[in-house]
Amino acid sequence: MIATQPFNILPRPALAGEFVPADYFRKLERDEICRGGRPLEVDLGCGDGAFLMGMAQEFPERDFLGVERLLGRVRKVCKKLTRRNLANARVLRLESNYTTGWLLPAAAVSRLHLLCPDPWPKLRHHRRRIVQLDFLEAVRQALVPGGEFLFMTDHEEYFQWAVGKVAEFGMFERLEWTEDSFFYPKTDFQLQWEAEGKSMWRLRCRKPTD
Ligand SMILES: C[S@@+](CC[C@H](N)C(=O)[O-])C[C@H]1O[C@@H](n2cnc3c(N)ncnc32)[C@H](O)[C@@H]1O
Repeated sequence: MIATQPFNILPRPALAGEFVPADYFRKLERDEICRGGRPLEVDLGCGDGAFLMGMAQEFPERDFLGVERLLGRVRKVCKKLTRRNLANARVLRLESNYTTGWLLPAAAVSRLHLLCPDPWPKLRHHRRRIVQLDFLEAVRQALVPGGEFLFMTDHEEYFQWAVGKVAEFGMFERLEWTEDSFFYPKTDFQLQWEAEGKSMWRLRCRKPTD
């Protein structure tokens, strides 16, 4: 089991399956979010949690943290995790950039997933996109050496933007990623978009080991 909450500082009862940091103003210790030396995977903007649950079910030996800012979605995912008795996944209700920049411990995360994030298609909104140089640096710091950042979108222009930012950042190696490269459950949005005939764009990067 993942360590239980020492106390709850939220202005509401914590949900079963929810991860509530003891302090939102310091970096977490690795053992606050995962059990011993188990690999930790983070799903930013986990939505209704289909991907998080599929992964937690498939890999009981790994720990998972979903991050989602909407309380309604956090409630749904927590309910599903509890119903399925998945003790290796929890959900943090918080903003993704804050989580990567201020809470995730250094060299702690094996894989960080960013799946179907809001594309902010209008030019004047591009600065709101989460994939920016400072975000990539926060991801790099949070990943273990050899750890991976996986980004998927149906939005080709956002995909090309992300590829450009990763190239400009220059601290990751690009790896091949096709639909059948490894087990990867479909997300809720992916299912929706594929039903509309859209295809997905995948970007897989690795933090070098030296
Ligand atoms: C388009 S949905 C994708 C959900 C899920 N990853 C999927 O593929 O089904 C984007 C999700 O990210 C959440 N989200 C958007 N911006 C966020 C942010 N800055 N911090 C945390 N969650 C965010 C939204 O509430 C929403 O649930």
